[in-house]
Amino acid sequence: MVRVGINGYGTIGKRVADAILKQDDIELVGIVKTKPDYVALQAVKKGLKIYAPDADSAKAFASAGIPVSGTLQDLLGQVDVIVDATPGGVGAKYKPLYEEVGVKAIYQGGEKTHVAEVSFSSLCNYDEAVGRRSVRVVSCNTTGLLRLICTLHNAIGVKSVRATIVRRAADPKEIKRGPVNSINLDPVKLPSHHGEDVKTVLPWLDIITAAVVVPTTLMHVHLVNIKLSRQASIEEVLQALQSTRRIILVDTKRTGIKSTAEVIEAARDAGRPRSDVPELVVFKDSITVNGDEVILFQAVHQESIVVPENIDAIRAVMNIASREDSIRKTDETLGLGKPLW
Ligand SMILES: NC(=O)c1ccc[n+]([C@@H]2O[C@H](COP(=O)([O-])OP(=O)(O)OC[C@H]3O[C@@H](n4cnc5c(N)ncnc54)[C@H](OP(=O)(O)O)[C@@H]3O)[C@@H](O)[C@H]2O)c1
Repeated sequence: MVRVGINGYGTIGKRVADAILKQDDIELVGIVKTKPDYVALQAVKKGLKIYAPDADSAKAFASAGIPVSGTLQDLLGQVDVIVDATPGGVGAKYKPLYEEVGVKAIYQGGEKTHVAEVSFSSLCNYDEAVGRRSVRVVSCNTTGLLRLICTLHNAIGVKSVRATIVRRAADPKEIKRGPVNSINLDPVKLPSHHGEDVKTVLPWLDIITAAVVVPTTLMHVHLVNIKLSRQASIEEVLQALQSTRRIILVDTKRTGIKSTAEVIEAARDAGRPRSDVPELVVFKDSITVNGDEVILFQAVHQESIVVPENIDAIRAVMNIASREDSIRKTDETLGLGKPLW
C-alpha cells in the first residue's frame, strides 16, 4: 500500500481524494486545507483525517469544533507521496519542505514547469515518471490536448497541431471570477501558453495554440487541427480514438448532443459522481479527415480530467505498476468510458 497525503482539498484535491479511496494499492492518510468551512465538515463526515497547514490554522479548526489530526508536517511524516493540489504557485512554496522531509511530490498544472522533474500525461510519457521524486500533472487543457495527440500519435503519427481553446471563465463554485459578459482574448499576442505546456511533455511537437475566455463554468472546448505524419482514413482515426477509455465519442446524430451543457446534463442523469466527466469528450460528427489532416471539436471537463493522471502519477513515482496496468486499473476503478446514455 502506498501511503498518500493531499495538500489542498479544493476542486482537484477532493476529487483525487475520492479517486484514491477507490484504489486497493493506494491509501489516503489525510488531507490538508486552510479553512474550517463546509468542505472541511464534509471531509470529516466522509471519515477523512484533516491536517492544518500550521499550528495557527489548527487553532482555527479547533475553535470551529472541527477535529484535526495535526499539521502538514505531521502528515508528511506518515506518507510516501504528497499530492499538492494547492492554488497555482503555492505548491512551489511547499517544495523545499517536501524535499526536506523526503516525500515524493505530485504537483498540478498551475505550477511552473521547473517545480518538478517531469511534466506528466499518462498516455504520453508514463515511463519518464517512473521512480521520480517529483512530477507535475499538466493543466486541464494540456491534459485534454495531450490525450488526443498521443492517442493519434501512437496509432498513426502526428507532425503538427494548431488548436483554438475556448476556456471556461470559472469553476462552478467560484464567485469572484469572470468574465460575465465578454469574450476575452487571453492572450491577445499569440501563441497562448498551452502549446508550450504541451511541449513540456512532447518537446519535438510543432504546436501553436490560441485561447479565448467565455462566460461559462461547465467545460472548455477546443477546435483542433492536426497534421498526421501520413494520410489516414476516418475509420483509422475513429479506431484510434476508440482504443482508450480516456476518450469518449459523442455521436450527435444519435444523442442530439451538441453542447457542453448537454454533456454535463447527461453525466448528471447517468449518476456520475459530481456530474464529472474525466474522459476527453470528442464530438464524433465534427471529425473531418482530409488526407493527412484531422479537424475536430473536443470538450474538457476542467474539474475532473486530471484526476486519472494524478492516480497514475502516484503509481509511476512509486514504480508499483507498468503504464498499461496503472491505466487499466485507474480506468476500471473510476468507471471511465462507461456510456453516459
Ligand atoms: N480547477 C481547475 O479547473 C483545475 C484544473 C486542472 C488543474 N488545476 C490546478 O490544480 C491546482 C489546484 O486548483 P484547484 O482549482 O483545485 O484550487 P482550489 O479549488 O482553489 O483549491 C485549493 C485548495 O488548496 C487549499 N489551500 C490554499 N492555500 C493553501 C496553503 N497555503 N496550504 C495548504 N492548502 C492551501 C485550499 O484550502 P481552503 O479552501 O481551506 O483555503 C483549497 O482546499 C492548481 O495548480 C490549478 O491550476 C485546476
